[in-house]
Amino acid sequence: MSSEIKHNGFASKLGAILAAAGSAVGLGNIWRFPTETGANGGAAFILIYILFMLLLGLPVMISEFVIGRYSQKNVSESFYSMSGGKKAWKYMGLIPMGAAFLVLSYYAVVAGWTLYYAVLAGMNDFAGKDAVQYAADFAAFSSDPVQPWIWMALILAMTCGIVAMGVQKGIERGAKVMMPILFIFIVVLVICSLNLPNASLGLSFLLKPDFSKVTGSTVLSAMGQAFFSLSVGLCCLCTYACYFRKDVDLIKDGTSVASIDTLVALCSGLIIFPAVYSIPGLQPDAGPSLVFITLPNVFQQVFGNLPVLAYSFSLMFYLLLVMAALTSSISMLEMGAAYFEQNFGISRVKCAIGVTCVCLLLGTCCSLSFGVWSDVTVAGMGFFDLFDYLVAKFIMPVGSLLITIFVGWVVDKNIVKNEITNGGTLRQPLYPAYMVLVRYFAPICIILIFLNELGLFSWL
Ligand code: PHE
Repeated sequence: MSSEIKHNGFASKLGAILAAAGSAVGLGNIWRFPTETGANGGAAFILIYILFMLLLGLPVMISEFVIGRYSQKNVSESFYSMSGGKKAWKYMGLIPMGAAFLVLSYYAVVAGWTLYYAVLAGMNDFAGKDAVQYAADFAAFSSDPVQPWIWMALILAMTCGIVAMGVQKGIERGAKVMMPILFIFIVVLVICSLNLPNASLGLSFLLKPDFSKVTGSTVLSAMGQAFFSLSVGLCCLCTYACYFRKDVDLIKDGTSVASIDTLVALCSGLIIFPAVYSIPGLQPDAGPSLVFITLPNVFQQVFGNLPVLAYSFSLMFYLLLVMAALTSSISMLEMGAAYFEQNFGISRVKCAIGVTCVCLLLGTCCSLSFGVWSDVTVAGMGFFDLFDYLVAKFIMPVGSLLITIFVGWVVDKNIVKNEITNGGTLRQPLYPAYMVLVRYFAPICIILIFLNELGLFSWL
């Protein structure tokens, strides 16, 4: 069975950039980033995160592009053929694929919550409640065994539908419609948020670094967040790069994707923290519930006298979350679907449905871990936290390490140079810098951060 990509790729360069940006921009930016920033002390965390985006995440992203566009094959086959037929690399390629199932499974749970909250916002359900009520509502909803499951299943069904429609008609068209709306919503929300009372307190939380809060685990969290936010380390972007046209400039367009992603994360901070500080007593480190408990309260209290604004602000915010989540979950599902489609010659629709069913099963464990299975723990963590920990702090960094070693040391240098310069047609002054980052800086840095996490530098 041929493992070559058989269908058409993205029709345009813009489509390719928007699809990759759609994968990158997601709950990681709007839900996870503020949560992590709040928990890790604000600006200092953000600085480290941006540094990692630039020096670790971006080189890994470009390397994924190189692998995908050159090989035009699924991940495991790409690793196999580009390593000159080494079986070990073929199996290594299966790791990120398995991990993509894990991410989608817990990602879909939160994406389901956002869909539910978008519907609540649309029905004006937040009006006239107080802070205690929002917390109680969220606790009752997230711990219910059935409701969150249904919303998760809906998100997975929507994702499956778009993937089943194909690369151009589903993924590219979805990104071209959703991404511009998302950008417009973000700009409107930032402007509104910055005009709230005490917005400056939120701004200084975001902009004034306090390095005394930085520990080894802050650094690991910042690295995990950078990888998660850019969608690197799981080879989802390798799969998308298979559909890139030959004129896509991998360094330039990869940098655009990373810049869009970072900008959206910072803008989410600009939306959320001024909003949180606008009400005395609310804390920026409320954790994952920040956007589901704290924000509905903020919207209502701040715009209490202007119900139309409270309604529009909430609706826009949760729709923004739903769209961002969808464009990312599509990339996770596409990777698994493309693998089975190419390797086993099964139709795209069947593959998409099959992968969705597996994620639905795994997602059920994550969803239940907020309620009836809350006391089922592995290594002290419920399924949801375990999946998030494993993916962001372990598998994505390890996947990224493998990718940098592969492109930096295993793949023939001429292949890499050829892809980066589009067959010598592009003058690419950043190529040497990219190679240094991929060969030395990124792998060494990832290994050091891991060793530090294992406590090997505690004597220093
Ligand atoms: N980058 C996405 C986000 O920020 C999450 C994601 C992770 C997508 C891994 C694909 C692969 O939400």
